[in-house]
Amino acid sequence: MAPDIAAMKGRGEPVVALTAYHAHTAAIADRYCDFLLVGDSLGMVMHGFETTVPVPLELMIMHGRAVVRGAKRALVVVDMPFGSYEESPAVAFRNCARVMKETDCGAVKLEGGRRMAETIHYLVERGIPVMSHIGLTPQSVNVIGGFKAQGRRQEQWAAIEEDARLVAEAGTFAVVLEAITEPLAARITASIPVPTIGIGASRACDGQILVMEDMLGLSPRVPRFVRKFGKVGEAIEDAIREYAGDVRSRAFPTPEHTYAMQGEGKAPPVRLATPARATKKPKNPSSK
Ligand code: KIV
Repeated sequence: MAPDIAAMKGRGEPVVALTAYHAHTAAIADRYCDFLLVGDSLGMVMHGFETTVPVPLELMIMHGRAVVRGAKRALVVVDMPFGSYEESPAVAFRNCARVMKETDCGAVKLEGGRRMAETIHYLVERGIPVMSHIGLTPQSVNVIGGFKAQGRRQEQWAAIEEDARLVAEAGTFAVVLEAITEPLAARITASIPVPTIGIGASRACDGQILVMEDMLGLSPRVPRFVRKFGKVGEAIEDAIREYAGDVRSRAFPTPEHTYAMQGEGKAPPVRLATPARATKKPKNPSSK
């Protein structure tokens, strides 16, 4: 639950988190992560949007349900999408309560510091655990003018530090710090009582989160702060190339992948449309 994540700071335990968007990967990540975030980055990673701005609430609920079905242990946090919470605390409550009821998640996440403090207080008072997200807030990409690191100049630090202080005072249980410099992350981490969860915010944070598809090596382009821990994109391409080759050469399916006849009687002979030939592995078009 959300208070368990908050309490990890007091014990000095690093918080491990990943995004998750569907049940099966959530079930794997659940064995290793303290919380799983159903991030609105799913709009870009899974649905091909250029930004997270167009993501509808219904999509978050659908993926939230899938992740909750896959996770048995980790806290599931669902991102509130752009337009679903900024208007007023009452609107935010209505939509957050809907997300919690319809997905059975354990908490929600909102982007914004100072401007969201009143809403965070309102939600927490009414039973909704809130994770905050400050620094680079991707839902504001059209105002910021791109996915740009924040706080690279010291004169920008005070506003971001104040964002962190105000959301912590409002009752948030953890704060995602996205794309900020290490000295700023260190100052914020030392100054607030709840864990900071970094994404592109250095090892000075209390915990870390990455977008799962990025760290698995599945996303075609990734930000500079991502380390690719896997080569899943290459593994998928290898498997699909081999499958396509085996279907074309009729090396797949074989009798072991075919249902046998039951009962008495001899099965009539089957003529293949084209005869099976030895599998010739086609070359990976992307490799030279
Ligand atoms: O939507 C998302 O994936 C996020 C992470 C960047 C923290 O909010």
